[in-house]
Amino acid sequence: MKDPLFFHRRDYAAKLINSLKDGITHAFTLFAPRRMGKTEFLIRDIVPLAEQQGFNVFYFSFMDSENPAADFQTALTRFAADIQTGGKAKTLISTISKIDIIGVALERETASAPQYRLSELIGAIAADNRPSLLLLDEVQELARGRDNAQLIKSLRTGLDINKDRIKTIFTGSSTNGLRAMFNDHKAPFFHFAHALDFPLLDRAFTDFLADIYHERTGNSLDHTALYNLFERMKHTPMYMRATIQDMILNPALSLDEAAAARLAQMHENSNHPAQWRDLSAMERLILQEAAKGNTALYSSSTRAALAKKAGIDSLNTSTIQGNIRKLERKELLTKSNGQWAINSPLFQAWILEQTD
Ligand SMILES: Nc1ncnc2c1ncn2[C@@H]1O[C@H](COP(=O)(O)OP(=O)(O)O)[C@@H](O)[C@H]1O
Ligand SMILES: [Mg+2]
Repeated sequence: MKDPLFFHRRDYAAKLINSLKDGITHAFTLFAPRRMGKTEFLIRDIVPLAEQQGFNVFYFSFMDSENPAADFQTALTRFAADIQTGGKAKTLISTISKIDIIGVALERETASAPQYRLSELIGAIAADNRPSLLLLDEVQELARGRDNAQLIKSLRTGLDINKDRIKTIFTGSSTNGLRAMFNDHKAPFFHFAHALDFPLLDRAFTDFLADIYHERTGNSLDHTALYNLFERMKHTPMYMRATIQDMILNPALSLDEAAAARLAQMHENSNHPAQWRDLSAMERLILQEAAKGNTALYSSSTRAALAKKAGIDSLNTSTIQGNIRKLERKELLTKSNGQWAINSPLFQAWILEQTD
């Protein structure tokens, strides 16, 4: 579907695809919080370019599924069959009861979901004369299900064996979830993929939107004011784009009016007040410190300051540690480059707004 307000990142897509094609690496993980544009980037920038470059492309989101492991296998089966039949399987898959995966005929139970072994599926995909690109969106969701450990292991093995023929882009929006899958020593995908922070959209994005607004309405828009708003939105494209959409549909709306409504929506959606209510007093104090950029959460001066705010004589490091653990489990605090920080920039902004 055409989307005139979509800002393409073709250069970035080309960079990733070329690195995969040239064998610089065989897999990437792209990390960014929710609503930063990862899915749209995969579908609108990566898919068309990768197809143009000769890849068979598979997309699957682990977020939208009740039973991600089973749905993933079904989708991958369809993809393997599709490759083998040159695209005809899309319409056939529901009627055929048997597909021939590299010479091995696999019987499929007529009504129930197909149960081909993952390694066979991946082997079949790798055997095609075109390379394949798998786009596995929000992959940390797969690791949440305890029963999925075997599937994750087979996936890793299959992709590892066939890394010359099958390339992968994983995305994730949970730092802790991704770490559990890729960075821990015991993680199934330990050191499997090259990790990248999905780049923030910058001023080119807001300039693009300002120009479209001008084109469509004849009104001009202060480019710097628009960019400043985008910073207040923590570079979240969803709210920025919605603001411009509102203003195109109703040209009488000023930037300030449109922005106020979308900023309010942004805070409402993020559910921050409810999250905050569920925290203990000490958890809140620690988050307030972290929000201010204090990374020395265990230092004696931080402990003294927290104790004073909590109205107690002193605080020992193990109390801090226990609370940090709880905040980590709630995915509110994460460690990056050895330092504790608030996971969501939106939540951080919200906390700072409440504090001052
Ligand atoms: N490059 C872009 N240009 C315009 N709008 C975008 C862009 N990327 C994302 N958006 C907007 O932000 C919303 C959220 O993007 P999405 O890709 O779903 O985020 P994520 O997958 O990171 O959670 C989209 O529905 C779209 O409205
Ligand atoms: Mg997404």
